[in-house]
Amino acid sequence: MTAQGAERRITAVDIAQRKGGEKIVALTAYHAHTAGIVDRYCDFILVGDSLGMVMHGLETTLPVTLDMMILQGRAVMRGSQRALVVVDMPFGSYEEGPEQAFRNAARVLKETGAGAIKLEGGAHMAETVSFLVRRGVPVMGHVGLTPQAVNTMGGFRVQGRSEGGQRILEDDARAVAGAGAFAIVLEGIVEPVARAITGSIVAPTVGIGASPACDGQILVLEDMLGLSAWAPKFVKRFGSLREHIEEAVSSYAGEVRAGTFPGPDHVYQPRKSGPR
Ligand code: KIV
Repeated sequence: MTAQGAERRITAVDIAQRKGGEKIVALTAYHAHTAGIVDRYCDFILVGDSLGMVMHGLETTLPVTLDMMILQGRAVMRGSQRALVVVDMPFGSYEEGPEQAFRNAARVLKETGAGAIKLEGGAHMAETVSFLVRRGVPVMGHVGLTPQAVNTMGGFRVQGRSEGGQRILEDDARAVAGAGAFAIVLEGIVEPVARAITGSIVAPTVGIGASPACDGQILVLEDMLGLSAWAPKFVKRFGSLREHIEEAVSSYAGEVRAGTFPGPDHVYQPRKSGPR
């Protein structure tokens, strides 16, 4: 299946079936207009809780609320037609237990129309993943560098550098896949570990800073477009939007100050009255 040309929305089941096949392409989007562009090229769009940092200038994703995710999830659904839309469960909305997770995940699916949710965590979340999946909620896992655990990880640190760390990651990914996650995001994981996980679980892996060994890749849209002021090492800047915006805004300011904008083409005139 190619990203372009599909007629119906891609489902979580379609993504699960891509294991070991054509690479899965994904990006984040938080708005209707960017979702509309990304939709043509991506298999799934993630409404990531990174929106807290990218859109709102927060230092971590921890303050992001369920209402924020639902609002942007709706916008992305309105802007897209074919890609699967996955909405992140924010910190505090699912960790208490399976019932809390189901209640909030059901809200996300009902109020946005999205096709799946994503939650962070390894073996300790397996029971919750299984509870959700058995009740009709497609779940994407997220292991490795899990930004919602920034305070217990001691920072945004690459994972899997020690032998013990490698074993924990493999156990985490296996547990989440075994619980029924249809795909798993591997974030900030050293290449050999990402490769080992990808080769040993049934669910496709989607890497972000986790090497080309994964079954697919995802990036934060604003990072790869070159709009973010800073981006991590694993981001390739495929565009330089920050410079383009700066250039346009500076031209606008210059023309307004010089009195050359608005020009004749941008001005309304009264209708010419015809002959009586
Ligand atoms: O919130 C997000 O954007 C994410 C990606 C980094 C995978 O979870």
